[in-house]
Amino acid sequence: MTYVVTDACIRCKFTDCVSVCPVDCFHEGANMLVINPDECIDCAVCVPECPVDAIQPDDNASAQAWLEHNATYAALWPVITKQIAAPDDADNWRATADKIAQFDARAASR
Ligand code: SF4
Ligand code: F3S
Repeated sequence: MTYVVTDACIRCKFTDCVSVCPVDCFHEGANMLVINPDECIDCAVCVPECPVDAIQPDDNASAQAWLEHNATYAALWPVITKQIAAPDDADNWRATADKIAQFDARAASR
């Protein structure tokens, strides 16, 4: 089992989650983060940190589809270990469901 970031993160990217991960397994894309499933130790401390409940165990039915997405992009994007400012319009996307159409596959450019 692992924890995964789901589409609730897209365009929100609050990054509260990264500062508590003991094994630095978050990776940063242009508009969401993912977890490296091979490095996550299932500690769950990141889960309550996310303001939009984007982080779920992969055995949740709604999260299973996100496991491959997290594994794929963790291999392509850089690690992020420190919280950064959220996008200016992040609050506008908090309540939006099914945000996959908004997904940006590019790595973070910082
Ligand atoms: Fe990191 Fe623990 Fe969250 Fe996995 S469950 S991503 S190890 S904080
Ligand atoms: Fe995304 Fe929530 Fe972390 S919005 S960046 S999973 S705190």
